[in-house]
Amino acid sequence: MTMTCYWFSGTGNSLHAARRLAEAFPGMRLLAITDRLLANPPELSGEVVGFVFPVYAYGPPPVIQRFIRAAAVGEIGYAFVALTHGGGPANATVVTDRLFRERGLDVSAFFTIRMPSNYVVGSNPVEGEKAAAIFALGEGELAAAQAVLAAREKRPATSAGVGARFKSGVVFPLFQKGVKTYDRSFFATDACNGCGTCVAVCPASNITLDETNRPVWGGRCEACLGCINLCPRQAVQTGSLTKSRRRYRHRDVSVKDLMNRA
Ligand SMILES: Cc1cc2nc3c(=O)[nH]c(=O)nc-3n(C[C@H](O)[C@H](O)[C@H](O)COP(=O)(O)O)c2cc1C
Repeated sequence: MTMTCYWFSGTGNSLHAARRLAEAFPGMRLLAITDRLLANPPELSGEVVGFVFPVYAYGPPPVIQRFIRAAAVGEIGYAFVALTHGGGPANATVVTDRLFRERGLDVSAFFTIRMPSNYVVGSNPVEGEKAAAIFALGEGELAAAQAVLAAREKRPATSAGVGARFKSGVVFPLFQKGVKTYDRSFFATDACNGCGTCVAVCPASNITLDETNRPVWGGRCEACLGCINLCPRQAVQTGSLTKSRRRYRHRDVSVKDLMNRA
């Protein structure tokens, strides 16, 4: 029987979490969720199936919804979901549980894993001691989740109360509606040297280079912010918000790991 962990990640947090959680299941293969996988959706089946992805606006990324709705669901022994987040997951596990149940997919265990936020549009990514404290918290949560997975225990999705219900029930659907046009305000400054990193890291194959070697976004954005955060020259911006901010990538994940994902 096979063991597969599907992951989606803009800046490496969820890939790191997927790698750590897969250690609970020797032989588990890791598969990236990309537009290529969506074009040829797999059957979700096997002894263990895992899903690891970030929280976007208090819910699962829209690409996860399309993936779950497109894939066939077969026999699954044990399924788990881990959502990485920057400190405010709200009821993202509950929303995800609902989505998976629609497809008859019964998730045995849900986890939320704290990571530094990659949402450079909203705030400056943390560094130094603050980042170290968050990494320590996340590593603790990953170790605890590993133990739960190794014992194949159950951990249901949990609701965090009224505020969380509002965020995941009202804000999240609004975000979902706008996500495809998220890239409208993305542009590259004169610092861009046409290296093509943004093209290679985009999980939606949404970026091409024009005749002057500048990136052009195609309106199929997944809002992962990989192009902004991983540009080696910090040339990719959105509006004026990101100009003076640092960039973020998980410390144990390389840009290469996030390129042309298999
Ligand atoms: C579009 C977008 C929306 C986000 N919304 C939330 C959120 O609602 N709550 C939260 O805690 N973090 C939020 N984040 C932060 C990410 O969930 C977090 O940094 C995650 O670990 C990134 O994972 P990745 O590196 O695998 O892409 C958001 C990030 C992005 C890009």
